Amino acid sequence: MTPVSASAADDAIAIDNHLDDAVHERGLADDVLDGLTRPFKELPPKHFYDARGCELFDAICELPEYYPTRTERALLEAHAAEIAAATGAAELVELGSGSASKTRVLLGAMAAAGRLRRYVPLDVAEGVVRDSAEALVEEYDGLRVHGVVGDFERHLGEIPEAEPGAPRIVALLGGTIGNFPPGSRRRLLREIGELLGPDDRLLLGTGLVTDVPSLEAAYDDAAGVTAEFNRNVLAVVNRELEADFPLDGFAHVAFFDRRHEWIEMRLRALRPASVLVGALDLRVELAAGEEIRTEISAKFTRERVESDYAAAGLRLDGWFEDADGRHALSLAARA
Ligand code: AVJ
Repeated sequence: MTPVSASAADDAIAIDNHLDDAVHERGLADDVLDGLTRPFKELPPKHFYDARGCELFDAICELPEYYPTRTERALLEAHAAEIAAATGAAELVELGSGSASKTRVLLGAMAAAGRLRRYVPLDVAEGVVRDSAEALVEEYDGLRVHGVVGDFERHLGEIPEAEPGAPRIVALLGGTIGNFPPGSRRRLLREIGELLGPDDRLLLGTGLVTDVPSLEAAYDDAAGVTAEFNRNVLAVVNRELEADFPLDGFAHVAFFDRRHEWIEMRLRALRPASVLVGALDLRVELAAGEEIRTEISAKFTRERVESDYAAAGLRLDGWFEDADGRHALSLAARA
């Protein structure tokens, strides 16, 4: 690496970190205290994603049973040019950007349309934001990256102002919106909507309601990767909060709840457990068979997406789904 190219890259990259104390800032202690003292125990899914959890999620995306990632990528490949043309977007803001692998498809289409100026990834993982920023400024001539290290439930206000004359796409991909139950989902969509100017669009990825065997297999794979991903949240609590959950004392449970139209993942205690969460001075008792809910992953119909948009002050402005009706990308504007 020559000094010249290094400083050119440095000028093109800015990264703000809003997570000085990751455990505190992401609310792990509060979530464990609240969630594990409820009558029905619960841990929110955002705590899956430490380094090991990110690795396991990447492995899930390669599983034959887990179709959402590859279906969404194919949808982006098929429609990115149309999305870039319809929005005229010069800027991409991505919430929960991760390794930004699908993002390249969109950035490529915006660059091909001659409009691409800036990429604004927001993610909790600083290393991932930095690495993808460095790779992307090399790949796209003239691209600037302004990374925001934060949690999109709390740090949307830290996203830099839009630049004049640069319409933007705010993307929330992968079906992440499905992790939010209906009430918080509306609130999040409304907050995201408040980032949109009249020419800006939300690009949302949503899993669709499909046949139950395919849905359940996607969250309970034969190789047991999703089971390990699920149990990893206990490893996170053990490490970060000095707890002593026995990981081998919990079974992975995943099922489609037809009434709510969501996948639910739980951890079921195989035997009674008395767990100390040292950092909280908290003792958690679990009966044999007792379950901790660790994730909901809502599946949508087009009607539900439209009504969630309406409730959040948005209107549907584009809809793309795969031939099997398993996943959709939609565009929304402020109503
Ligand atoms: C990253 C939230 C989209 O719900 O499908 C994958 C997470 N959980 N397998 C999903 C997940 C179990 C995933 N999202």
